[in-house]
Amino acid sequence: MPRRLTEKRLVVASHNPGKVREIADLIAPFAIEAVPASALSLAEPDETEPTFIGNALIKAHAAAQASGIPALSDDSGLCVDALDGDPGVLSARWAGPRKDFREAMRKVHERLQKSGTKDLTAHFVCALAIAWPDGHAETFEGRITGTLVWPPRGMLGFGYDPMFLAQGHIITFGEMHPAQKHAVSHRARAFAKFVEACLG
Ligand code: IMP
Repeated sequence: MPRRLTEKRLVVASHNPGKVREIADLIAPFAIEAVPASALSLAEPDETEPTFIGNALIKAHAAAQASGIPALSDDSGLCVDALDGDPGVLSARWAGPRKDFREAMRKVHERLQKSGTKDLTAHFVCALAIAWPDGHAETFEGRITGTLVWPPRGMLGFGYDPMFLAQGHIITFGEMHPAQKHAVSHRARAFAKFVEACLG
């Protein structure tokens, strides 16, 4: 049986404003105060695991230990089939120290062009981990498949959103308003599993 969250405060263990905004939106209906890691000046631990779940656990445990309250973390990324799953867990690092996602998207596009592939399929993965200060943790994963477009389209969302067209949609995540993205996204899918297990 997964552990239920009975506390009314939760740290959102991320320093990525796009993720913090989306998680705050998703958590809003549950009368839980979502405190961003930046508000507590929590350090960002190194993400040293080869999997999304592994890195989500590192971040959730670090934030729960440092803050003394339960922490929800998100490790996520874009996996491109023709690039053997890259950028994958290194999705943030492809943007470099300046966090330039125009550049990261260009890198994906150039790698695809260089490979000569016609396969533009990709998926987003989101691993959520909730950890309590006593060391207990639960994890959840969501994904959404789609295809990549070039040039990028839309100024909404964050990260690789402007080049991702979810299956069955004609506008990119970068062109979707938050509610539209939440209806289908990898993050919303992982969050729904978290709600069912820990808040339901
Ligand atoms: P990390 O989980 O902190 O390693 O960073 C994941 C990176 O993947 C983010 O910085 C984004 O670039 C990308 N990413 C994760 N989720 C999304 C999303 O919903 N839209 C666009 N990019 C995303």
